[in-house]
Amino acid sequence: MKWNAELYDQKHAFVYQFGENVLEVLDVKAGEHVLDIGCGTGYLTQQIQNAGAIVKGTDYSPDMIAQAKENYPAVEFAVADAGNFDEAGQYDAVFSNAALHWVKNQDGMMDSVYKSLKPGGRFVAEMGGKDNVGKLIAATKQVLTQHGYLEQTKIQVWYFPSLGEYTSRLEAHGFRVTFAIHFDRKTPLQDGDQGVTKWIKMFGSQFFEGIPQPEVEQMLTEITALLEPHYNEDGQWYADYKRLRFIAVKE
Ligand code: BEZ
Repeated sequence: MKWNAELYDQKHAFVYQFGENVLEVLDVKAGEHVLDIGCGTGYLTQQIQNAGAIVKGTDYSPDMIAQAKENYPAVEFAVADAGNFDEAGQYDAVFSNAALHWVKNQDGMMDSVYKSLKPGGRFVAEMGGKDNVGKLIAATKQVLTQHGYLEQTKIQVWYFPSLGEYTSRLEAHGFRVTFAIHFDRKTPLQDGDQGVTKWIKMFGSQFFEGIPQPEVEQMLTEITALLEPHYNEDGQWYADYKRLRFIAVKE
């Protein structure tokens, strides 16, 4: 997946603005070593540094990391795969916001995070949880089906686990889960009735790979129409986000 880092900063700032209160859960102390995985364009990484931590932000996308370095030259950033990295035993905390649902190798990610933490270190994250953007996914699959693209409906772009599934998985990797919550967060979309189209073009383009662009545009219009009764509240459109937030400790 290729990211448009500039567009992400301009139009999808809610991804990290809503992430700010997960920083309260991280509760960073001055001098702590923190790794921020899936840091995107670096806003929260910089917030962690401002709170007094020694932080490194990593992302799979070189474009995101280039933008992060431009945005915050005083913060350390590097390209790395969250599903498989080697930073053995250094960190007081590993943090992640709105990124883990993109990681294909969840077991590799959990092992890598575990190894990178000091004993007593914590893994604090927020990600999409079960049924996140469920209405949007259902509408997208309905329209793909109506246009005869059945194979495309089987693509699993994201991983949105339930609380039980994910906390069990963390436990199987040696963590003690000390806090976990699965909650609704109605999330505003920008640009009114263009918001769904822009969101899908930014984050869900994999559903439409190989489909001629004029037909994609038509399908996006149809998806928007299906979502309107659920997403449009007096002209402000909201997506049906559901978050999974947790603290998991390496004992
Ligand atoms: C999310 O933060 O929940 C999300 C963002 C982009 C694509 C899918 C989910």
